[in-house]
Amino acid sequence: MTPTISIADLGEGQAALLKVAGVDVLLCHVEGGFYAVHGQCSHARQSLAAGRLRGFEITCPLHGARFDVRTGACLAAPAQIPIQRFPVQIENGKVCVDVTRS
Ligand code: FES
Repeated sequence: MTPTISIADLGEGQAALLKVAGVDVLLCHVEGGFYAVHGQCSHARQSLAAGRLRGFEITCPLHGARFDVRTGACLAAPAQIPIQRFPVQIENGKVCVDVTRS
């Protein structure tokens, strides 16, 4: 697990793109939970940093594919495959992400 930002630094309903051990990670805070998925869309590798987070769904800003940030599941075309999700744990007030597992 790699420590990232403090839980206080990501408000409810917000997402942030972080570099964790060299991997682009989109960290999301939804309904009290923290979720981490790969930071690039599986369609054409667009960064999800400017994506719109609504509930548990992140929408790609380029062509509108949607993914569930809890699982990485693809919910809407044009993307066809999920994005990777990563385990998250809170330790000492920090959001920790393991990019070596999904
Ligand atoms: S790059 Fe994300 S939907 Fe096309």
